[in-house]
Amino acid sequence: MLLMCIVLLLPAGMATVYAADNVNSKETLVLGTSADFPPYEFHKTIDGQDQIVGFDIEIAKAIAEKMGAELVIEDMGFDSLLPALQSGRVDLVISGMTPTEDRRQSIDFSDHYYKASQVILVRSEDSDKYQSMTDLEGETIGIQKGSIQEEIAQGINNAKLVSLDKMGDLVLQLETERVNAIIVEDTVAKGYLNNKIVIASASPAETDSAAAIGVAKGNTELLEVINATIAELKVDNGIEKMVEEASLLASGNQKDRNIFTIAYEFRHYYAKGIGYTLLLSALGVIFGFLIGLIITLMRMSAFRVFRWIGTAYVEVLRGTPMLVQLMIMHYGLALVFGLNLSPLQSGVITLSINSSAYLAEIFRAGIQGVDKGQMEAARSLGMKRSAALRHIILPQALKSVLPAIGNEFITIIKESSIISIIGMADIMYQANSIRNITYAGLSPYIIAAAIYFVLTFMLSKLLSLFERKLSASDKR
Ligand code: ARG
Repeated sequence: MLLMCIVLLLPAGMATVYAADNVNSKETLVLGTSADFPPYEFHKTIDGQDQIVGFDIEIAKAIAEKMGAELVIEDMGFDSLLPALQSGRVDLVISGMTPTEDRRQSIDFSDHYYKASQVILVRSEDSDKYQSMTDLEGETIGIQKGSIQEEIAQGINNAKLVSLDKMGDLVLQLETERVNAIIVEDTVAKGYLNNKIVIASASPAETDSAAAIGVAKGNTELLEVINATIAELKVDNGIEKMVEEASLLASGNQKDRNIFTIAYEFRHYYAKGIGYTLLLSALGVIFGFLIGLIITLMRMSAFRVFRWIGTAYVEVLRGTPMLVQLMIMHYGLALVFGLNLSPLQSGVITLSINSSAYLAEIFRAGIQGVDKGQMEAARSLGMKRSAALRHIILPQALKSVLPAIGNEFITIIKESSIISIIGMADIMYQANSIRNITYAGLSPYIIAAAIYFVLTFMLSKLLSLFERKLSASDKR
């Protein structure tokens, strides 16, 4: 809890690094979207900067402008959009989303702003294989998780469904022959066509789908502004024009690249990612270390309650996946207590408490490894128990478990990659963004792996240097 207080205070100093925080007083409009859906919304490098563009984004800008608010975009998996809206993490969702009955149960929708139809993507060598829907029976089909295409695919006999969060991953699955077809909207399909991927002649049973904008249930005020904006944009085919422009922008996304050109072209992305990974790990290490120490002292306390709390803390945190802890921290607290932590805050808290449990175990082993005689000697010299602990036992204990602590630090750097899924712009997040831009399946990850390796390798060299220094002092 102490940590929570500290980390809640973080944003003051972090406002400059974490852009989504309110820096000025202007009202913000937070848009939730899954930017993997060209030409609706997608990533694009403009002037060396990663930007989210598309006609959904243009519509969002028009709404924000009408409100005199500043637009903030949160990119997430399509499946996370409804919870994000319900928990108040975002104000509206524009993501090519079809207003289905199911979704209307949990959120409200605007008027339709676009209509699309469904098509099936296949590998070019299979273009003649799927002439009608019966040809798709029993096939492995890729669809976006939580989308209406998922429902359509569920209606196909014996089809084996692979549902994933991001369109780019589905296209990779198709290219690598893990799925044989993808159901997707025609407008979107165009953005993914190349010499390997084509549209099959079969067309899904339910072909039409409309797109509308989602807001939290009962937010009629925002809904009115949205509907007014849509109506204005529809005059003179304004939306059609936006779609055309966005499609043009999307068509330029595919270039021939290899791992070296990717590393060079996106070096700024990785540089930014390294910054965030280091910040996250450093804070995780510092807080993890402090909390770990506190927990260890609690576990050695003379009071049974403290011992009990310490043990429960370690067991629970060690016994549950960090991914789950992260989800609870980031979404759970927002849903239940309305506590909206930024990705950095959630990330640092999760990383620290998680590693503090492991560190507490390491410290305990170290302390138990110190000869009992040390404590007895200190006490018989008149030292208090706490003073003896601090000046005699802990220094020896820490020294003996230094290698284990070093290991834990290295783990923190690697584990911090998990935080990317809540939108922390670390190395892993950047690698995913680059995959979304380039559709390159492997290279962005290889580059990320190389970076992580260099970081951990340097750290381990540093640690062994430190260890050698300490043991040198032993030999004197
Ligand atoms: N229209 C479909 C649906 O509502 C798919 C939308 C997917 N959107 C996205 N940005 N990936 O389920």
